[in-house]
Amino acid sequence: MPSTVVVGAQWGDEGKGKIVDLLAQESDVVCRYQGGPNAGHTIVAGGATWKLRQMPSGVVSGTTSVIGAGCVVDAQVFLDEIDLLRERGIDPSIVVLSGNAHLIMPWHVTIDQASERRLGSLQIGTTRRGIGPTYADKASRIGIRVQDVLDPKILRQKIEVALAEKNVWLERVYGVEPIELEELAARYEGYAQRLRPYLADTSLLVDRAIREGKQVLLEGAHGTLLDIDHGTYPFVTSSPTVAGGACTGIGIGPTRIDSVIGVAKAYVTRVGAGPFPTEIEGPDQDRMRELGGEFGTVTGRERRCGWLDLVALRCAVRLNGITSIALTKLDVLAAFDRVPVCTAYELRGGARTDEFPEHQSDFHSARPVYEVLDGWSSELGGEELPDAARRYVEFVEKLLDVEVSWVGTGAEREQVLVR
Ligand code: IMP
Repeated sequence: MPSTVVVGAQWGDEGKGKIVDLLAQESDVVCRYQGGPNAGHTIVAGGATWKLRQMPSGVVSGTTSVIGAGCVVDAQVFLDEIDLLRERGIDPSIVVLSGNAHLIMPWHVTIDQASERRLGSLQIGTTRRGIGPTYADKASRIGIRVQDVLDPKILRQKIEVALAEKNVWLERVYGVEPIELEELAARYEGYAQRLRPYLADTSLLVDRAIREGKQVLLEGAHGTLLDIDHGTYPFVTSSPTVAGGACTGIGIGPTRIDSVIGVAKAYVTRVGAGPFPTEIEGPDQDRMRELGGEFGTVTGRERRCGWLDLVALRCAVRLNGITSIALTKLDVLAAFDRVPVCTAYELRGGARTDEFPEHQSDFHSARPVYEVLDGWSSELGGEELPDAARRYVEFVEKLLDVEVSWVGTGAEREQVLVR
């Protein structure tokens, strides 16, 4: 299929990096359409581990890699990852950056951190990379875009205008040090020289690639339930993480998308605060975290772990129009004799539903209804899955009415079973 969206179907960290890396081998262009350095991708390829935050996962395989207008960019992180590519023998000229993407400025990071501290027990648990404040300024039309760095006069003027307001907030509301104009303007003028070679009209580039019949992969960051409109608000990120975001974030029409692959872990994890019906209580949660290496790529935080939630996954199938599923990390479940899968929620008052509750209070109090499947307690190495593991996969397919086309059986690039 010429253009495919790969989207996280849970709360992020589903192992999208690995699936994108795999598909990128046969793609001509790989694009990121939303988010910024809050997204952590871990890719294990050729014995080397890559941890990327800002770049599309496709860079690892040397594919043309686009960062679209819907993304937010931390210039320092971007340039550090450019250096990393060079160090590891990949020509960074494969990276193409939209001039319409917004820059995460130092005040965004400071405000994200200070506002989380201020919220105390009510905090979102953000990655503290300035994501929310950058998207807020974009919506308020006072953001600074990547293209602004091309004109030092405009850049300085925009920074000056922004600081006049942000410094009042920083000092008076958050009680932190103000940011000094001269040093900052000089630093960003320096970035300008280094960013310039990567800038291009990415909407045009991607549209042309699709018209020419090239294989284009559009890579979602985070996960469906972190979507700003459809996720578990306010415990979400600040951009559209669903597949539809690929159109607006890159600048292509919906008729250009051919298929949507949803990546879901064989269990569920969540980072940060917010409701999580299938979260495991007791030592099995620690066991799952250790076995699955469930610690944040960006923040190193422990991920909360739970059993597979088919109510939430059914919702993700709907929100994204998922046409096939990649079920990752099935190997981790081999450690459990019995594997519960959530097939419905019990709501307050006792009613059962297999659809994701529209009202947040219903979701907060939803209790999982489990069907317990047999475990398989053997490694998933060969061409075929052990019977019980195959039944697990078929159970997911049956309840979601979507094919599971890939099964992740280990961290390495090769450890994927194509069905
Ligand atoms: P922000 O994107 O840094 O503003 O964080 C908002 C919420 O999204 C928090 O709950 C984060 O833990 C979560 N989040 C953001 N990026 C990721 C990710 O890549 N994986 C998992 N959770 C994420």
